[in-house]
Amino acid sequence: MTMNLVPPETSSKTLSFKETARARRSIRGFLDKPMPLSIIREVLEDAQSAPSNCNTQPWNTHIVRGEKLRQLSKILHAKNDAGEFSPDFSFDQNHFYGEYRKRNDALGKAYYDAMNVMREDKEGRHRVGAMNYSFFNAPQVAFLFMPSFGDNVRVAGDIGMYGQTFLLSLAARGLGGIPQTALGFFAGPIREFLGVSDEFKLLFGISFGYPDESAPGNRIYMDRVPVDSSVTFHD
Ligand SMILES: Cc1cc2nc3c(=O)[nH]c(=O)nc-3n(C[C@H](O)[C@H](O)[C@H](O)COP(=O)(O)O)c2cc1C
Repeated sequence: MTMNLVPPETSSKTLSFKETARARRSIRGFLDKPMPLSIIREVLEDAQSAPSNCNTQPWNTHIVRGEKLRQLSKILHAKNDAGEFSPDFSFDQNHFYGEYRKRNDALGKAYYDAMNVMREDKEGRHRVGAMNYSFFNAPQVAFLFMPSFGDNVRVAGDIGMYGQTFLLSLAARGLGGIPQTALGFFAGPIREFLGVSDEFKLLFGISFGYPDESAPGNRIYMDRVPVDSSVTFHD
């Protein structure tokens, strides 16, 4: 199913749940048109209703826009070009195996095909990967910070639920977003730039806004395996 990419001026009309769940996909190209703060607040109100382990409500979200976002983009590009990574949480695609590796490879192929970059073109891959640090042109970004509890597995799950509620709220309005682990690679400088205490860890960010229908990054559609490949029924 393709997403309704017509941006609404007001948030009064939303898709049904079924339409919303199927319309949501990762948007990698946004119009240079900031979302009104009132709609951003509605999306944040929706996200706030996410469930959390033991009702800790551990989400600590920072919304960055305007000049601040332009400054942060410059810092992130510089750090990325220099390879100065400072993630709060480890990330290694080499851990994927079997079917999981194949699905990751399918994403890589779809991504580089859409961006017209050959897999062996290292410079081209760096260039399109760096689009993460221009936030795919989104005029606003949510950084999802969290407190650290034990091995962090449960709190990370809570942030995931919050993030998905945020994304579905956008999709219901014909808007879009993309969760970005790539932003978490520079947790240190982002925390410093935003004045966030070391108490909070950065899991990922979400660039969001009005989808740009003509952006190459929005030609990517990832299939899903059938339900019966993921679910086992027990009676
Ligand atoms: C937590 C999380 C982090 C992600 N990080 C990135 C990222 O850094 N850059 C990117 O282009 N896509 C990122 N994605 C998007 C995934 O590639 C995408 O969800 C997946 O390929 C399925 O496609 P769909 O979201 O369009 O259905 C991330 C997704 C999730 C859930």
